Amino acid sequence: MLQSTHTSREHLLVFINGERHEVAGLDASLTLSDYLRLRLGQVGTKIVCSEGDCGACSVLVGRVEDVADESRGGDESGGGKLIYRAIDSCIQFMYQLDRAHVVSVEGLKRNGLLSPVQDAMVKCHGSQCGFCTPGFVMTMAGLLEGEGVERKETLTPDELRYGLTGNLCRCTGYVQIIDAGCSVDPGKTARLSELYPDGPMVDVFSAHAADDVLVTAYDGRTVAAPANLDAAIAFKAAHPGCTVVAGATDIGVQHNKGKIDPREVLCLANVGEMKGVGQADGRITAGACANWSQVERSIKDLVPQFYDVLTVFGSPQIRNAGTIGGNIANASPIADSVPFLFVMGAELEIAGPTRTRRVDINDFYTGYKQFDLNADELIARVHIPLPTEAQTLRLYKVSRRRDLDISTFTAAVLMGLDGSGETIQDIRIAYGGVAAVVLRLPKAEAFLTGKPFDESVLREAGQLARSEVKPITDVRGSADFRLQLAENIMARFYFDCAQKAPV
Ligand SMILES: Cc1cc2nc3c(=O)[nH]c(=O)nc-3n(C[C@H](O)[C@H](O)[C@H](O)COP(=O)(O)OP(=O)(O)OC[C@H]3O[C@@H](n4cnc5c(N)ncnc54)[C@H](O)[C@@H]3O)c2cc1C
Ligand code: FES
Ligand code: FES
Repeated sequence: MLQSTHTSREHLLVFINGERHEVAGLDASLTLSDYLRLRLGQVGTKIVCSEGDCGACSVLVGRVEDVADESRGGDESGGGKLIYRAIDSCIQFMYQLDRAHVVSVEGLKRNGLLSPVQDAMVKCHGSQCGFCTPGFVMTMAGLLEGEGVERKETLTPDELRYGLTGNLCRCTGYVQIIDAGCSVDPGKTARLSELYPDGPMVDVFSAHAADDVLVTAYDGRTVAAPANLDAAIAFKAAHPGCTVVAGATDIGVQHNKGKIDPREVLCLANVGEMKGVGQADGRITAGACANWSQVERSIKDLVPQFYDVLTVFGSPQIRNAGTIGGNIANASPIADSVPFLFVMGAELEIAGPTRTRRVDINDFYTGYKQFDLNADELIARVHIPLPTEAQTLRLYKVSRRRDLDISTFTAAVLMGLDGSGETIQDIRIAYGGVAAVVLRLPKAEAFLTGKPFDESVLREAGQLARSEVKPITDVRGSADFRLQLAENIMARFYFDCAQKAPV
């Protein structure tokens, strides 16, 4: 049972292309793409990979972003507006969409006519077999929405290339698709709020903002989507075996590959206290359910090195759904955020039924996919100290492709030099993809502390680093390759900081 003083609701409240849906029973556990295609017969949304890799299933999801988010200027009342973002509907579950408005490709047309983006795709020959086309159209429509800020200029090729990283086309080629995007005149493109006025939907969402949702299907399958942290913890304590879902970019893939079929789900999508990103006293505090797009906007100027890593984290659709808490709790040794969080000494705020505790992320992982979190606890927030002006931070992601690829190897180095600027005063090094968990390198760190910052010292540290890791061979790279990276990255760090080319 949800233990909360809030109203309890036994169905999800979702608007789809402007129509209200009350979703209950087993339907609450369907993926959005299945709900659109199988329940509503809206088969414009295509399924190709079913794992967030191709973007064919992209749709727009509009939400009132009602949580303080400094990246959007602090006061995020949303002004009663829905902000639309593209997500992959194949790895988004209906229970994540309570109090959201979904726009699928069927919902773009106006008075039976093609939308400007669809029209441009026709005129620029942006479609051949057409399977990827609805996904491209939806993502481009999302780019034109511009996160609720009225767009005056046409999209640039660079904006389109970046925005469409998560959409793959196997036959047309991208030139025509980019041409189509560039040819759309934002001034002549109706905003979604013109097609679907925000007001009536926002009124409904606001009236139900404090509802705890608990949907039980005829076979006992249960989904809880509480509105606050206390209710979420209460559900977790009462159902210690439940599957926690935040953005579902990991859980959704496991589900679609048939690895999991949870009977009890705790969805965190509505937990207000776990959202938002703020900055105070030299640190960033991110709710565990802050998605990567929010984090990306918030840290762009504060930690440009981490921003650069996030620009190659999955795709826009993945970053619009996937969360920082999910990346940490998924406990992958190649999670892109973790080496950065290690060297910054990030603290996890862990909430349980009787207390909240803080754990240094360096002490959190105890083995492959094992970590210090009790069955009745959730990661609530992540506190990340910012690098000081005296510190140098460098982050590395090595992957087989630049975009939309999982890392083979990751590294983070945070260094402070003494007053002379020539001697290493303190240094923290973390590597990912070289062991069952992300590792700090105590031997290399101890060796470097107090040493001059020069090439030969860093090269020697590289050899020590190599001795501290135990990589395996897998599809992304051999153990030997990873050992070489473990060694070489120290020299690369030297050349990056000294701004010299290697000789
Ligand atoms: C196509 C694709 C590309 C990707 N690219 C990258 C990439 O470049 N780099 C990278 O690091 N990852 C990548 N990922 C993995 C994934 O997107 C990230 O790990 C993401 O941050 C997971 O967040 P989520 O909210 O979606 O997690 P979910 O799938 O919702 O959950 C993941 C795990 O965390 C647990 N969990 C979630 N929130 C909490 C919480 N608050 N407290 C306790 N447990 C919790 C869940 O129970 C689950 O075990 C990619 C995934 C896909 C599908
Ligand atoms: S079908 Fe490929 S991302 Fe959803
Ligand atoms: S038109 Fe065939 S996959 Fe893009």
